[in-house]
Amino acid sequence: MRQSIVSQGSVRFSWHGGWTLTKILVIVGSPTKANTYSLVKAMYDQFIKRNVEAELIFLKDLNIKNCDGCDEYCGTKGKCRIQDDMQLLYHKLKDADAIILGAPTYFWNVSGPLKTFIDRTDPLYVARASKGK
Ligand SMILES: Cc1cc2nc3c(=O)[nH]c(=O)nc-3n(C[C@H](O)[C@H](O)[C@H](O)COP(=O)(O)O)c2cc1C
Repeated sequence: MRQSIVSQGSVRFSWHGGWTLTKILVIVGSPTKANTYSLVKAMYDQFIKRNVEAELIFLKDLNIKNCDGCDEYCGTKGKCRIQDDMQLLYHKLKDADAIILGAPTYFWNVSGPLKTFIDRTDPLYVARASKGK
């Protein structure tokens, strides 16, 4: 029997019909390498086992500054003026077919590293570069 999970857009994960998804970015937004990391890493391991190109990113290992709320720069240029590791992630995010985000609940919200990351994706949102992912 064929099982599939269809994400936003037309990308399809097909377990028994052969993999049609090419690049997956798996992002861990927990500051620890405990529960969230274990769950997300288990997914990542399955992708690798099935020869799906996937990359695991542990946000806490990276230098990602808070969004400074300038709005104007990213609003007009679709780029972020802050020069840190997020610049590399912008390329990876644009390149990925699907993005998986994992975070623990902190005060009924996502944890700090993931929230910081999400805020910094504003240039992609403005440029509609994350549409369909
Ligand atoms: C600062 C902080 C706030 C938390 N807030 C919540 C919460 O609002 N609701 C909840 O169910 N758990 C909350 N938790 C518990 C964590 O979500 C839970 O322990 C989670 O498994 C931790 O993930 P990790 O193992 O990836 O660090 C909180 C934990 C911390 C440290």
